[in-house]
Amino acid sequence: MLKSTFLKKFILPGALAFACTNLLYAQSADHFFPKKDLMTIGSYYYPEQWPHAYWERDLKKMGELGFDFTHYGEFAWAFIEPEEGKYDFKWLDEAVELAHKNGIKVIMCTSSPTPPAWLAQKHPEILMVNDNGTTMQHGSRQQISWSSPVYRQYVAKMVEAIAKHYASDKRIWGWQLDNEPSHYGQYDYSDAAQISFHSWLKNKYKVIDSLNATWGTAFWSLKYDNFEQIRIPNAKELIAQPNPAAVLDFKRFSSDEVTDFLGLQYKILRKHIPADQWITTNLMPDHAPVDPTRMTNLDFLTYTKYLVAGYDKGLGPQGFRMGSPTSIAFANDLFRSINGTTGVMELQPGQVNWGKFNPQPIPGTVRMWIWHAFAGGNKFVCNYRFKQPLTGGEQYHYGIISTDGVSVSTSGVEYTQVIKELKSIKSQYNPNAQMPAAYASRLTAVLYSPDNRWEQDNQPQTYQWDYQQHLMRYYGGLKQLNAPVDVITEAKDFSKYPVMVAPAYQLLDAKLVARWKQYVEQGGHLVLTSRSGQKNRDGKLWEMKWAEPIHDLIGAKISFYDLMPDTVKGTILMNNQTYNWNNWADIIQPDANTQIWATYTNQFYAGRAAVTSRKLGKGTVTYVGPDTDAGALEKAVLRRVYQQAGIPVRELPEGVILEWRDGFWVGVNYSGKPYTVTLPANAKILIGQKVLKPADVLVWKE
Ligand code: GAL
Repeated sequence: MLKSTFLKKFILPGALAFACTNLLYAQSADHFFPKKDLMTIGSYYYPEQWPHAYWERDLKKMGELGFDFTHYGEFAWAFIEPEEGKYDFKWLDEAVELAHKNGIKVIMCTSSPTPPAWLAQKHPEILMVNDNGTTMQHGSRQQISWSSPVYRQYVAKMVEAIAKHYASDKRIWGWQLDNEPSHYGQYDYSDAAQISFHSWLKNKYKVIDSLNATWGTAFWSLKYDNFEQIRIPNAKELIAQPNPAAVLDFKRFSSDEVTDFLGLQYKILRKHIPADQWITTNLMPDHAPVDPTRMTNLDFLTYTKYLVAGYDKGLGPQGFRMGSPTSIAFANDLFRSINGTTGVMELQPGQVNWGKFNPQPIPGTVRMWIWHAFAGGNKFVCNYRFKQPLTGGEQYHYGIISTDGVSVSTSGVEYTQVIKELKSIKSQYNPNAQMPAAYASRLTAVLYSPDNRWEQDNQPQTYQWDYQQHLMRYYGGLKQLNAPVDVITEAKDFSKYPVMVAPAYQLLDAKLVARWKQYVEQGGHLVLTSRSGQKNRDGKLWEMKWAEPIHDLIGAKISFYDLMPDTVKGTILMNNQTYNWNNWADIIQPDANTQIWATYTNQFYAGRAAVTSRKLGKGTVTYVGPDTDAGALEKAVLRRVYQQAGIPVRELPEGVILEWRDGFWVGVNYSGKPYTVTLPANAKILIGQKVLKPADVLVWKE
């Protein structure tokens, strides 16, 4: 009970906010990973999927190949609890011991994504319902509702059992909760989810009139009398557009729901396991419905990455065999920046089975990906999976070991090569190495906002708008200028970044604008881009001039915006260079002291400003109105921002990434063409050659 109003009003909120921020963001998980280990390598193994007679041979092989750790149990619930309340750990104990015997640590998992058949049969109410109203069934995985109290009870019991069983087991290295919790892009519309959404809304709005006001439910008579009347917005059961504020809240809720579900598991495990064992989960970095930046209730987060599956064209004619240079890079820079620690929990081992088409990666690519993960600061990389499965939904999926169960596959060969290479560079590790000054001077933050992404995904305004692609055009430009990048949210302090790019910040508030202003006045260089500042945090348009809350900051007004079909090219002139756009254009009206960097040169607004920049205090604010497909304008603007700020850049061709980590420079090449890396006279090449071939790696020290 709160005793005094003073305490309630002033001390507690501040203290709580401080405690939360600290708990959520400041806590580093680095102590789990000795720095001198740099990065360790592991591989998934499924004892329950193979005859018992093979286990010894397989784990021995894993040890011989040099893997440091393995990964057990995320899909094994039916074997851990074959009958309700009867747990069987004998088989798992044996597998843990076999790993240990072969010098391999174990990541133990909770198998919540795969409840046993008996559970769904007894409690069909645990199943999730998709947007068509179809109940997902036993027969694959993740068919459950995170909102179901019954499912949560069963998960809690299973997690408690495994936690108690392995409570003080030194052979366990760390823990993974669930597996890629995501429903693979589907949302849950079950009764349990509807009820939980109501509670979330009640907690947020307290009274229904507050929700009505924020959602603007007077529009089309949506007005609600109580929370129970609300249904999760589902385009499949609506004639026309859903209420955008309802959609935004539903996306926030869904992400909070999975975070809460994992938090439940975390708390149970933490009660039992030793403090030196970590707890994480593995998320797909590109999967918008689950927001990693909200999931700050675990020790740290890891990601999963599959680049070659027919979706990512990469660069040049063979790019589909390597994926895009920004794919692993962005995952590194986003996940590492959450609390300073991350790992790759799954990395594609070669050809997979579930893609649009499933090509072979160019030989060397798997090795390049692992080194790219190293370059981005990962503490470990875990290969998915050790053995190619002979049965089940992932036949045709490569492993380290091929279908005969004994031959090492091409990816196995690449993994063992990296394992040896990593061992060789460990002896060169210098704990006191400092990031080279020129590289450090261009440290740049990309301000990522899932709220803005969700809002714009729902109301893109043109079929050509894509928040993530827009952001990636800037991110890619930064990498080509060889900037070290942290992808951060507003929870972070901005002051350590000489440059900050905040793409498409449509939803904001006065507080953020004030923080930006202070950041710039103190010397920061801020880049704001298309469609910024239009709405408040609830998705309501400002009752002001268009985007007025940012006018003072950018030193300009946004007169209007334009959108065109992909058959029409808008033109822009900057520094005597012409660029095309047709996705989005903010037309800018600069104030007297604001410079015009680029101008529209066609359409009825030819001659008006497209890119502006102004000085403010010790820093600058640049506003980029258009969104182009090629990203060349975006990159040219970034280059000019650095130039104006007196920050040196290093020009790299698209596809070549050079990063520094723990005293080592690492170069990787996704460009499809060889590239000669310019090295200083004192450079000592540790791995590779300065002519960096596609899908190859160069590691050096300076
Ligand atoms: C991942 C998933 C794994 C496995 C893998 C196959 O997305 O987490 O369990 O299915 O794909 O490539």
